[in-house]
Amino acid sequence: MTETTLILVKPDGVKRGLSGEILRRVEAKGYVPVAVELRTATPELLAEHYAEHVGKPFYEPLVEFMLSGPTLAIVAEGQGVIPGFRSLAGATNPTEAAPGTIRGDLARDWGLKVMQNLVHGSDSEESAAREIAIWFPAFQR
Ligand code: CMP
Repeated sequence: MTETTLILVKPDGVKRGLSGEILRRVEAKGYVPVAVELRTATPELLAEHYAEHVGKPFYEPLVEFMLSGPTLAIVAEGQGVIPGFRSLAGATNPTEAAPGTIRGDLARDWGLKVMQNLVHGSDSEESAAREIAIWFPAFQR
């Protein structure tokens, strides 16, 4: 089924100059970026985006990390793109992510307070709709 997902290249990815490499992998798989914007998050936007993590021990360092520079927000469209991008991204923990995945090949989390795992991808249709509305309020498909 053709669906849309929200992908974020987090501040570690943008700072390290990996936005192009990550977009390349998304496009090489056959997914189409239909909206792309480079923007710096705000605490309010992150409280909405990460609502399920508010209050967890890693929440404050996560917010600090996500405010540390611009994020590349992407709406990508394609057949099965929601689970498909999560496969491309690999396991949340970069140390456990398989080689061949974005995190397995490129992410580093050694000795950091929060997992700097380069990318975020929506985990379900409901999350995708919610997250796209947060990052791209005017987006229509
Ligand atoms: P993401 O998929 O964007 O969703 C929540 C983020 O919090 C996650 O990627 C990581 O960056 C971070 N995170 C999740 N769990 C932990 C954890 N146990 N310790 C540190 N950071 C975490």
